[in-house]
Amino acid sequence: MVGVLLLVVTLLALGAGHGVLAFDPNPLQDFCVADTTSKVRVNGLPCKDPATVVADDFFFSGVDKPGRGTASRRYGFTALSVQIPGLNTLGASHARVDVAPGGAFPPHYHPRASETAVVLQGSVYFGFVTSYPDNKLFAKVLRRGDVFAVPQGLVHFLHNNGSEPAALYATLSSQNPGLVLVADALFAAPLPGDLLAKTLLTDKATVDKIRENFHRP
Ligand SMILES: *[C@@H]1O[C@H](CO)[C@@H](O)[C@H](O)[C@H]1NC(C)=O
Repeated sequence: MVGVLLLVVTLLALGAGHGVLAFDPNPLQDFCVADTTSKVRVNGLPCKDPATVVADDFFFSGVDKPGRGTASRRYGFTALSVQIPGLNTLGASHARVDVAPGGAFPPHYHPRASETAVVLQGSVYFGFVTSYPDNKLFAKVLRRGDVFAVPQGLVHFLHNNGSEPAALYATLSSQNPGLVLVADALFAAPLPGDLLAKTLLTDKATVDKIRENFHRP
């Protein structure tokens, strides 16, 4: 009996520990403004001398306009990473995402972050899917001023199925959220075609046809 109880307590403790490790570590000082010139490698970037820190280290301007960030012509979106050196080690990152009419940020997930996104302009169909085996869809049409939240690690998407350009401002709960585009993970990687056919409950010819479109842009 005591043995069983101990086992349960140990399993709970291990589970809790794992949960804590899923988030960015807590900071040990007020701030650690990134020193991008340093050659030192740590978990995050080394800190600038606090005596040289200025207000501009916590500042970024220009999220009122579409940025020239990473553009995906294939999907019709542009993501502008909001670079704020003063956020280094603080467990957050931000981006402005622009989506052309008809464009999408296709199903993807961030392994290390939850997300909230506020619509700045236009309208999008936005949602996420819960994990196996439920695969439940939570989705809404969002308009300017609306905010939607995505739990950590869950597959989510947005589709600008309206006729105007859409823009969103996304906040993520990690300095390095990571991005896995589900279709790219399956079709841009050199996975064996017969394995993919099996995975997708289809035949290899269908897989080969889909794969033709996934050559790197
Ligand atoms: C976009 O798609 C969603 C989900 O299918 C739908 O509810 C919404 O009416 C669509 N919006 C437009 C402008 O067609």
